[in-house]
Amino acid sequence: MTTDRKKILSGMRPTGRLHLGNYVGALKTWVDLQDRYDCFFMVADWHAMTSEYADPSLLPGNMRDMLLDWFAAGIDPMRSVVFIQSLVKEHAELSLLLGMFTPVSWLERCPTYKDQIVQLANKEIETHGFLGYPVLQAADILIYKADIVPVGEDQLAHLEITREIARRVNFLHGGPIEQVTNRPLNPIFPEPEPWLSSTPKLFGFDGRKMSKSYNNAIYLTDSPDEVTRKTKQMITDPARVRRTDPGDPSKCNVFDYHQLFTHDKAEEMGVQCRKAGIGCIDCKKTLANSINNLFDPMRERRASLADKPGALEEIAEDGCARARAAAQNTMRILRGRLSMPEGVSFLGKPS
Ligand code: TRP
Ligand code: SF4
Repeated sequence: MTTDRKKILSGMRPTGRLHLGNYVGALKTWVDLQDRYDCFFMVADWHAMTSEYADPSLLPGNMRDMLLDWFAAGIDPMRSVVFIQSLVKEHAELSLLLGMFTPVSWLERCPTYKDQIVQLANKEIETHGFLGYPVLQAADILIYKADIVPVGEDQLAHLEITREIARRVNFLHGGPIEQVTNRPLNPIFPEPEPWLSSTPKLFGFDGRKMSKSYNNAIYLTDSPDEVTRKTKQMITDPARVRRTDPGDPSKCNVFDYHQLFTHDKAEEMGVQCRKAGIGCIDCKKTLANSINNLFDPMRERRASLADKPGALEEIAEDGCARARAAAQNTMRILRGRLSMPEGVSFLGKPS
């Protein structure tokens, strides 16, 4: 990875199997970005730990399932660096150091912090680790000098904190301040930009937000029959009672899906719906087909990985090694700028 291309880093907490909402909201963006950028994709297991520390026993299985989904969906380990956060210990070192630069008030006023304290009231997350969640995230990003960070809207506050931390370190340790621009001449970190996915949110097959806990999600691992069964349950335009009633696709969850997965034929589905040219049953069958067409190559890639014992581990190991090399390089430079010793030789020098 010695190109001049811009760098991307993103991560997901290992929550297990991914659903279509995760795919269109994040994973698909990652897959597409691989062509144009040097990408780092991270399993954020330490971030998961901030809320799961009392019982982390599900994390290893979740990491495996999530990685399989990433590779099945087309994350290409030849082009992108795919790694596990806690196996690149430099993230912890940088997080510790960035913590020195981060006022507690930035963290306390972070909207995700205030929000999660209420949401996860059963989990006792008023901890140092959870308050420092955005600092660890800043370390994830800055350690690779990422230029762009694809994230969901909920993560924008963390990106802003990342930028503020980068600015602060740069101002203090980025060499002399240039008079005209009022910027350090030799900044250590770029200020990363967020990249928001433009895809609209997908609703679950019951019409509510798609979520594991609502049991209304279509998973990338679902079999063709499961996909068909779930699409059959989808809520349609409630005013379309009989087959002969014209429908309104703009009021139908199925049509939202068609727009994402049936591509150029989606528009025609809408036209037919409006003039009762197609029934909801057939419309849903077409959708199941579209989704299965999307999933088929994923199923193949997943099966070929599953066929080779140790393959997943090997890929992850290689990704961690590549991430580590880049992270260690940044830490070497930063430690130099911060007058941190590289060895004990400094002890010999009188001060
Ligand atoms: N906090 C992110 C989330 O919950 C996951 C994450 C951890 C991340 N480190 C990151 C995302 C760095 C982008 C960049 O979705
Ligand atoms: Fe929805 Fe299709 Fe039925 Fe129209 S025909 S209401 S788009 S399921």
